[in-house]
Amino acid sequence: MSIRPILIHPDPRLKKQCTPVPEVTADIGKLAEDMLETMYDAPGVGLAAPQVGVNKRLFVMDCVKEDGAEQRPMVLINPEIITASEETNTYEEGCLSIPEQFGDVTRPKLVTMRWMGLDGKTHEDEFDELWATCAQHELDHLNGKLFIDHLGSIKRQMITRKMVKLKRERARA
Ligand code: NI
Repeated sequence: MSIRPILIHPDPRLKKQCTPVPEVTADIGKLAEDMLETMYDAPGVGLAAPQVGVNKRLFVMDCVKEDGAEQRPMVLINPEIITASEETNTYEEGCLSIPEQFGDVTRPKLVTMRWMGLDGKTHEDEFDELWATCAQHELDHLNGKLFIDHLGSIKRQMITRKMVKLKRERARA
């Protein structure tokens, strides 16, 4: 396993529609392992393939937050939302591609998703609370959408300017 560099917004690779994964190959297995290691190292609760520069429809997540609780790593390939509740939830979201910036995003509270697992089989599960928010945030990434696209344009532009500055500083260092 290895930690891969995470792309920082703004980056054209974060704005692209990702392509479906036809089958689980050894390369996909390696990518998923690397993404989990990269996510835990960051640390974060979710990471999508485009964030490590791979234009494919898969993401990893683990929203277990309690100290000492067992990890619950999940790999979702070609995920889709089957049903979403009318009831919504608002969470202050962040993103590993937009470090140290946060904003309130309202999304369906409950979603049922279907995806292909690393076993090549179809899985379906219902997600609630933080898991639902995280799954929808990560699915957005596969469609070239970031959480700041859910915010007002003034806040979005302010955050984007900060990221441009951050990238300039990092390039100089
Ligand atoms: Ni994100």
